Amino acid sequence: MAAEITYAELRFKAESSGPNTDNPAAPEGKPTPQRSNLSLPKMLVSLLIFLLLAIIFCIAFIIFFQKYSQLLKEKKTLKESTQKHTELECKRSNSSRKDKVWSCCPKNWTSFSSYCYFYPTGAKSWAESAERCSGMDAHLVVITSKEEQDFITENMNIKTAYYVGLSDPQGQRHWQWVDQTPYNESATFWHPNEPSDKDEHCVMLNYRPLLQQWGWNDARCELLQGSVCEMVNIYL
Ligand SMILES: *[C@@H]1O[C@H](CO)[C@@H](O)[C@H](O)[C@H]1NC(C)=O
Ligand SMILES: *[C@@H]1O[C@H](CO)[C@@H](O)[C@H](O)[C@H]1NC(C)=O
Ligand SMILES: *[C@@H]1O[C@H](CO)[C@@H](O)[C@H](O)[C@H]1NC(C)=O
Repeated sequence: MAAEITYAELRFKAESSGPNTDNPAAPEGKPTPQRSNLSLPKMLVSLLIFLLLAIIFCIAFIIFFQKYSQLLKEKKTLKESTQKHTELECKRSNSSRKDKVWSCCPKNWTSFSSYCYFYPTGAKSWAESAERCSGMDAHLVVITSKEEQDFITENMNIKTAYYVGLSDPQGQRHWQWVDQTPYNESATFWHPNEPSDKDEHCVMLNYRPLLQQWGWNDARCELLQGSVCEMVNIYL
């Protein structure tokens, strides 16, 4: 586009400048030698215009190429961010969906029922932990059965506490799961005498050696703790 416009402008200038420079300089009476003299500058002018056009074309091409490769790069990073999990581990699925034969979890995630779980390394606040899970297309774990809790605690370090996806954002003891699963009072696994403090709005799983069991405990959301992320199986 840019090259075409420049081309049109150049032609216009060349045509208008040609007669302007020739006419005042052209003396009357000796047309034949004048004509042969004129053809050389004209040729030079056309050559110059041609060179100029070639240069402009090259520049336009380079600019276009740069833009295009930038576009390709952007597309690639987009693809990478949507396909965060490049390595999957799959097993034959019992899913009722006959077209989906394999049920998969990303590499290094564990699988239980139709969910995948991951234990990120490094302690973070509850909000940061939730964000970190979202960054992996997952969410903080939502525990809905004793079997699920027993499975996820199997791989846990008893000296570490792990945030789960349960919190009380308004501070009114209205417990909410991050994925909007309804809070079911009869499927909760609080330690005895927990939750204990109205100022503690986030829930973590920790191990109590005296009771020899894992359970839920309310904690201040700013505390830096481990966490567990969860996602639904990927069906292929
Ligand atoms: C999956 O299918 C196998 C064999 O068909 C069965 O033994 C197993 O219990 C099933 N598992 C689940 C979680 O349904
Ligand atoms: C899985 O874990 C191993 C060992 O911690 C690590 O080297 C590897 O990069 C991980 N793979 C993925 C896909 O995260
Ligand atoms: C609540 O949990 C109990 C015990 O696991 C279960 O029997 C019941 O169906 C659950 N209720 C709802 C609404 O999910």
